[in-house]
Amino acid sequence: MNTPPRPRLTVIGTGYLGATHAICMAVLGFDVIGVDVDADKVARLNSGEVPFFEPGLPELLVKALETGRLRFTTSFREAGEFGDVHFICVGTPQRADSGAADLTYVDAAVTALSRHLHRRALVVGKSTVPVGTAARLAELIRATAPAGDQVELAWNPEFLREGFAVDDTMRPDRLVFGVTSAWSEERLRAAFAPVLSLGVPVKVTDLQTAELVKVAANSFLATKISYINAMAEVCEATGADVRDLAEALAYDERIGGKFLRPGLGFGGGCLPKDIRAFAHRAEELGVGRAVGFLREIDGINRRRRSRTVDLVVELCGGDVAGRRIAALGASFKPDSDDIRDAPALEVASTLAGLGADVHVFDPAAMDNARRAHPELSYGTGALDVARGADVVVLLTEWTEFRRIAPEAMAAVVGARRIVDGRHALDSDAWRAAGWEYRALGRP
Ligand code: UDX
Repeated sequence: MNTPPRPRLTVIGTGYLGATHAICMAVLGFDVIGVDVDADKVARLNSGEVPFFEPGLPELLVKALETGRLRFTTSFREAGEFGDVHFICVGTPQRADSGAADLTYVDAAVTALSRHLHRRALVVGKSTVPVGTAARLAELIRATAPAGDQVELAWNPEFLREGFAVDDTMRPDRLVFGVTSAWSEERLRAAFAPVLSLGVPVKVTDLQTAELVKVAANSFLATKISYINAMAEVCEATGADVRDLAEALAYDERIGGKFLRPGLGFGGGCLPKDIRAFAHRAEELGVGRAVGFLREIDGINRRRRSRTVDLVVELCGGDVAGRRIAALGASFKPDSDDIRDAPALEVASTLAGLGADVHVFDPAAMDNARRAHPELSYGTGALDVARGADVVVLLTEWTEFRRIAPEAMAAVVGARRIVDGRHALDSDAWRAAGWEYRALGRP
């Protein structure tokens, strides 16, 4: 039996998700075109430069370009003519006027691509969308593509985590294929053959279930984080220690310790906006009460940020005006330069708004932070921003911050006061070095 040729792939949208997907698929042996409307991004990718921070990805981009199997373009015509399977990887940010997802980019990408689909092809949505979007897009494709109903739509939600994007793409926990025909399933299996050959489980289902898996997973993760942070609030009122509590809970395998780290809470381009979009969509569908708890999850998470500000204010004796604060971290989590809805920057800018003189350092997100928050001061390293500080506040748990020796930092600060916003430091070691150590939910 002849093995069918590998499908030629296109990836529309070259952000954190799309660029990673395009690069990894080329490394896995596929011919791939990445498409973006941003000509500058396309040029940088074609020259071998990943336009954002992601460990391991720059090396893979160089490798993929060298094989000649990967290129980037702004031309939807080129993509439409080339591809057998087209992945839609554009962003779905939160709308400015509500918690709903903004589908402008998804609609634009699907429309622009469909106009150039003249033969049988599969369009695969990867973007996180409100349930029901795929059905609407299938209609849009049918009406727009010259090949009409020869073009099918499938949904393949993406679960990659920034910082682990390469591993999560090459060897995901699972694949989900939302399909409406055996042909679509066969095309997806062909497009993921190297991944499936590793024994990665695949769940084949309908479009709406596939769309829901993604938001259900992210809602669960957000709920787990806010749950332990809610316990932190209770701990604060009782003198209990949330870190010990979390550790004791984690021994129960049914609960588990992952995503049970208390602290400043979740941010980024996914969890916060996904739970809001899900709550909004559920209300539209008349089942708002079923996920009404997500509003509470969001509320608990927002309170972490204001409570962290309160702790810093408290350590300054009730007023931060004119006080020097060292903010360690800007990205929403370590090993990323992503500052979308970053708790760290919200805390830093709130303190600056209260009159504090805030000095920020982040190992990767400095350019992004400077652009978004020109009102803050920026330094060249943790010890540099800590010089003369009245309070040091750890906001993103980068490994290099975890490794700071309390004695080394003690030598440069104005006062030995630290707020560990991520429960990342050894409190005993810091206290032993003469620091006043504070963390949410810990005595
Ligand atoms: C998330 C999902 O994990 C991923 O599956 C999905 O595809 C996209 O959204 P990501 O946004 O990259 O990925 O970050 P993640 O590692 O999930 O962390 C999200 C936030 O939660 C970070 O701000 C992190 O600091 C915070 N977090 C995580 C906690 O506060 N406590 C924890 O225990 C875990």
